[in-house]
Amino acid sequence: MRMVDLIEKKRDGGELSKEEIDFIIQGYTKGTIPDYQMSAFAMAVFFRDMTADERANLTMAMVNSGETIDLSAIEGIKVDKHSTGGVGDTTTLVLAPLVAALDIPVAKMSGRGLGHTGGTIDKLESIKGFNVEVTKDKFIDLVNRDKIAVIGQTGNLTPADKKLYALRDVTGTVNSIPLIASSIMSKKIAAGADAIVLDVKTGSGAFMKTEEDAYKLAHTMVSIGNSVGRKTIAVISDMSQPLGFAVGNAIEVKEAIDTLKGVGPKDLTELVLTLGSHMVCLAGKAESEEEARKKLLEVIKSGKAIEKLKLFIKNQGGDASVVDNPDKLPQANYKIDVPAKKSGFVSEIVADEIGTAAMLLGAGRATKEDTIDLAVGIMLRKKVGDKIKKGEPLVTLHSNREEVEEVISKIYNNIIISDKAETPKLIHGVVVK
Ligand code: URA
Ligand code: CA
Repeated sequence: MRMVDLIEKKRDGGELSKEEIDFIIQGYTKGTIPDYQMSAFAMAVFFRDMTADERANLTMAMVNSGETIDLSAIEGIKVDKHSTGGVGDTTTLVLAPLVAALDIPVAKMSGRGLGHTGGTIDKLESIKGFNVEVTKDKFIDLVNRDKIAVIGQTGNLTPADKKLYALRDVTGTVNSIPLIASSIMSKKIAAGADAIVLDVKTGSGAFMKTEEDAYKLAHTMVSIGNSVGRKTIAVISDMSQPLGFAVGNAIEVKEAIDTLKGVGPKDLTELVLTLGSHMVCLAGKAESEEEARKKLLEVIKSGKAIEKLKLFIKNQGGDASVVDNPDKLPQANYKIDVPAKKSGFVSEIVADEIGTAAMLLGAGRATKEDTIDLAVGIMLRKKVGDKIKKGEPLVTLHSNREEVEEVISKIYNNIIISDKAETPKLIHGVVVK
């Protein structure tokens, strides 16, 4: 087989066989296929798309390009959740203990944040002592005993995806649905998931800016998952404004704690209950979404969910007393209110720009090597649709420096006040095939 022939075949709209796709991915991982040929191939896929079989074969070729995690030693159906990236998205921190409180195993591998989206691992590390570098044996023991553990990315998972994603980033081929879908699904499958709940974001803060593209991506991922034997469901959710009020690390942990106590932001709570009920159903612990939701609400009310969070923190070396005393989380030196310049209704909070503003305060990384300040971030004081009076705080900045002019001007440019506004729809739909 020659790579040039396969590039031409895709360029001319042909369909590649499983053997041909394996040849490309294996060759690229080993280095026998150079970046320039892989770039041409990615561009051909960008313009020609892939058939359902090609997408599934590409996904599995990437899964098989490296190690995979074997979770078969954990009893029960392992349901993983993946969000396509958002701003202030604290769902994993809430969902993991919430679902585990119903005796559903949560064996999660999470990443650090890059750019304007935050990572679960960074958030967890704002709890003193919390350790994500757990050995594989301990990880499995913890999940079998207490149903929950979260580790950082370990091992050589999906090396083909790592290499290809970096190449796509500099060749104008990131925004291709078959490439995004196979990239995300290969990582979930390599991490050992039996079933997958996807949270596909749509809006200014998301990869998929339009609802139409979000649906396309969701259908593609659901179809890949189901065709390779992983039951997959996708929820399309709003990311036109940040989720909840907090955008940062420690302040998002506080928000997650509140939500598990039943006093969290409305939108975050609703998204968690929606995603959670699908997870409960896929895990076989409820017959219907309504039943699952009822069970989730029960463990919040009874305190089981918050107790599970404490146990989870303690098991991984963290200071669980932060749950009862969130003031023990890292605190910023300055809390600076940014007042509204006029009265009206908040009509827009541009999610990705708010994420960038939080990054400017030090809450996020511009490059992989950056260190982040866990204490800082942005607390929204109003959400889209809320009424506001001139002089009332729009946001409160949690900052470790007094000089925040640049951040304040970003806030004013990206939170719009109008004469009228409506609360946006949070859940756009659910995709099951
Ligand atoms: N996230 C991924 O992991 N891969 C993509 O291609 C895009 C977003
Ligand atoms: Ca939030």
